[in-house]
Amino acid sequence: MSLAAVETPLHHFPTARKQKSRTNPKPKKSSSKGDQQLQSLFSDIQALYATSKLSQNLTKQITSTFTNPATTPIKTLLSLGLGSPTTPSKNQPRILKQLAIFLALSAALENAGHGFVTLYAQDPVFTRADESFLSSLGIKISRTSRGAELGEATALIDAATIVYSPFLTLEAYEALLLHAGKGSVRFLIGDDFEKLLAKWPKFSEERKQVLKLVRGAVGGYRRRGVGGDGFWEEGDGAFPMALYERGGAGSVKAKAKM
Ligand SMILES: C[S@@+](CC[C@H](N)C(=O)[O-])C[C@H]1O[C@@H](n2cnc3c(N)ncnc32)[C@H](O)[C@@H]1O
Repeated sequence: MSLAAVETPLHHFPTARKQKSRTNPKPKKSSSKGDQQLQSLFSDIQALYATSKLSQNLTKQITSTFTNPATTPIKTLLSLGLGSPTTPSKNQPRILKQLAIFLALSAALENAGHGFVTLYAQDPVFTRADESFLSSLGIKISRTSRGAELGEATALIDAATIVYSPFLTLEAYEALLLHAGKGSVRFLIGDDFEKLLAKWPKFSEERKQVLKLVRGAVGGYRRRGVGGDGFWEEGDGAFPMALYERGGAGSVKAKAKM
């Protein structure tokens, strides 16, 4: 794929009907003012992402990692722990930004020749309004009854799945990487575990949990940091992300000291 295609702004992606509805949803005639404000805010966020350095960097990483759909086919993108995109809160901009990245990932994969990628999102906090907003973007919903359980997501994860999980709880990461989903997660775009190790105080419970995750799973993955400015702002309270690939060269294990 050419560099020009890699850097194509999101709203210029091919106009396949399903893709169009994911990236540029049109408000229904009956939408309330609140719905229209949400659509407008989300469109602005998508436009901002499309021009950011983060978008360029992430698209390049996706293109280089998944450049050969014959050997690394991706069929499913699964978001875990998005939070509620429609509930007004101080976290809403961050959640909508995470959602914009999720949709852009699918466009980048499709541009890299992966065909139609099915999108799923799971979070026990989803409201009806969230589910309806997500489905208007072409995203299917999977469910779990409890945070500590992976629920329906378990059946969606195989070697052709990318799990996308920025800011997922450590409890859910344990379900994903050490219990129900153990060994089945090949690709993960989520919190940077090196930064998580540095974040928590030395003898805290959370640091112990992160170490368990690194030693029990993530340490065996190849890690690539996902960075770039022009998108996250101070007020978003965003946390650094990384792309992990199981079986890739280079791991974080060696750096995970007690
Ligand atoms: C720290 S919050 C982050 C929410 C949002 N991504 C943000 O940045 O504000 C973690 C999220 O993970 C969700 N979660 C917990 N267990 C989960 C599970 N098993 N499957 C999917 N989501 C889960 C929680 O409901 C919560 O919304």
